Amino acid sequence: MTPHLDLNNIVLLGRSFEEYRRMFSLDHSQLESRKILDVASGVSSFCAEACAQGYNVTASDRIYRCSPDDIARRCRKDLEAVLAQMPGVSDNYNWDFFRDIPALENHREAVCSAFVRDYTVQGIGRYIPVDYPDTAFADDEFMLAMVSHFLFLYDKFLDYEFHRKTLLELLRVTSGEIRIFPVVDLRGERSKMADAIMHDDSFSRHGISIRHVDYEFMKNANEMMVIRINK
Ligand SMILES: C[S@@+](CC[C@H](N)C(=O)[O-])C[C@H]1O[C@@H](n2cnc3c(N)ncnc32)[C@H](O)[C@@H]1O
Repeated sequence: MTPHLDLNNIVLLGRSFEEYRRMFSLDHSQLESRKILDVASGVSSFCAEACAQGYNVTASDRIYRCSPDDIARRCRKDLEAVLAQMPGVSDNYNWDFFRDIPALENHREAVCSAFVRDYTVQGIGRYIPVDYPDTAFADDEFMLAMVSHFLFLYDKFLDYEFHRKTLLELLRVTSGEIRIFPVVDLRGERSKMADAIMHDDSFSRHGISIRHVDYEFMKNANEMMVIRINK
């Protein structure tokens, strides 16, 4: 069996606007005139790039209590740790979006730099320090909440109660939809937490579906969960 990325914690690596667009099947009509929450957004440049295009996005992550320099240093350390393992696990990835490992490194660095530039200027007006599962957002403050590379993927570190409480909190602060990508764990297998959420009575009045998307860097990570909210 091919070895998988062996992580001891949730890494501080970020994805770009284009990756979010593909992971969450977003188009202009879904982005415009909606207040959007990026959940555990870390060093992703999605918020910076989306706001530069006029969309209304708020980023939320526990690292937003740290300085830009500190975050950039921690991101570089996590990137080096992941890149060191990549040659041994590269068969688990599709190399079309990124041509090769150096291209992946350049992309992740550029994303982090774009995030740091915007975070330095915008600070906590746009980047809200949040320790999920709890937030201080108002009821129905957002129309769409997006969760990338946090819930399900890291089910090794985040137990079911954490998943349940975080999703209940997102249901409180969101009025339209919650989208979560991917629905696999770090081994590329469907997360048991995703199946448990789909069968949990706390969520049964909402419409939950799994949809194929046009993004698959880690093999088998090509679906998002969509929760259509009924209040
Ligand atoms: C792999 S990164 C994903 C970043 C971004 N969503 C993306 O896909 O580019 C995971 C993020 O989860 C954040 N995180 C982990 N536990 C958290 C918690 N309890 N509350 C808020 N953020 C958390 C980390 O700080 C990190 O930035």
